[in-house]
Formats: sequence, structure tokens, C-alpha cells
Amino acid sequence: MADAPNSIVPTEAEMPVGINHLVINVRDIEESHRFWTEVLGFREVARSKRNPMRFYSGNHGGRMNHHDIALAENPNLPKPPEDWKMFGMPVAINHIAIAMPSREAWLKRLAWLREKGVPFRARINHGMTHSLYITDPNGYGVEVLYELPREVWGENIQGAIDFAERLPTEGDEALVDDTNYPHFGQPAAAE
Ligand SMILES: [Fe+2]
Repeated sequence: MADAPNSIVPTEAEMPVGINHLVINVRDIEESHRFWTEVLGFREVARSKRNPMRFYSGNHGGRMNHHDIALAENPNLPKPPEDWKMFGMPVAINHIAIAMPSREAWLKRLAWLREKGVPFRARINHGMTHSLYITDPNGYGVEVLYELPREVWGENIQGAIDFAERLPTEGDEALVDDTNYPHFGQPAAAE
């Protein structure tokens, strides 16, 4: 392979746009397929002809992405514990966050997940999102969220991270959402 011409070699790693997609190992691809389509609402967009692998997209303004997430089957993965907590789980993936398009869509999803009997593992109002945590069949956390308006946290990323309010996961209270969002000031100037 030819060396890149010096003129295009940057002096540092350029910042990427973000994460394009994620591929997760799953114990049973049919079980995880049902979770990602029937529970989370993703659409299967392709299947590998060579590997035990399937590809999924969310709704990006009425169009599919090439894929947001793919499942790769590995039957040797250990069965996860029944319980879930944010920290100390013996699985590599802490959680994957799924954005609903609006607060209304998120509230409907909560009601619908409750109706389907999906356990609410945690509900947390963060400074930048309101979030419900559930778990996939492999013991990976899945955060179902809606984003708060950007003006709520502005440029204060640390301030938004520092705020977290735990909410009930059982009963009618678990389906209620408060829009009295705390606002964060500007980040403290660097010393
Ligand atoms: Fe998260």
C-alpha cells in the first residue's frame, strides 16, 4: 500500500461526527430480534448472508439509516443475572440509549412497555434527558429517553451530568413526567 502524501497527513486525530452504529453480541439472535423490533420498535433492514448477523434502523425523519445497530449471535455468551443494576453487572455493555422523537412519544412508550409487562429497572430525570432503563435479553441496559430542549442545559454538560433525580418504577407514578426542568447556568470558567 502506498504511503499517504504528507500533505494530507493531519497533525492530530480529527473529531468524528459521532457513533455511526453499534454491533452487539447476543446469545440468541431470535430472542434479541424480538426485543429490538417488538419491544423497542426498530425495523430490520438487512441480514448477513455470511454470518449470523442482522441489521436494524430507527426512524430518521421518515427514512431508514443504513443501520443504527446490528446483532451478532454468539451462543457462548453467559446467561445474565435476573436483576439489573447500573453498576457491577458482569456484562460488557452498561447501556445503550434509544431516543424517542418527542416527550409525547416517550410517554406513550412508557405506557406501552408497562402494558407489555416489561420491567422498569430505573427511571431517572437527568439534566439533559428524561430516561427509563429497561434490559435486553442479554442483560444489557437500554435507556429509553427523550432529550430536553437544548436551552435547558445550554453548554453546561457537566452541570447536566451532575443532576440526576430517581423516580418510582412501580405504580401510576412511574408513568408521570414532570416538565419543570431545572436550568443550568454557564459552566464554571476553567481555572
Ligand atoms: Fe445513558
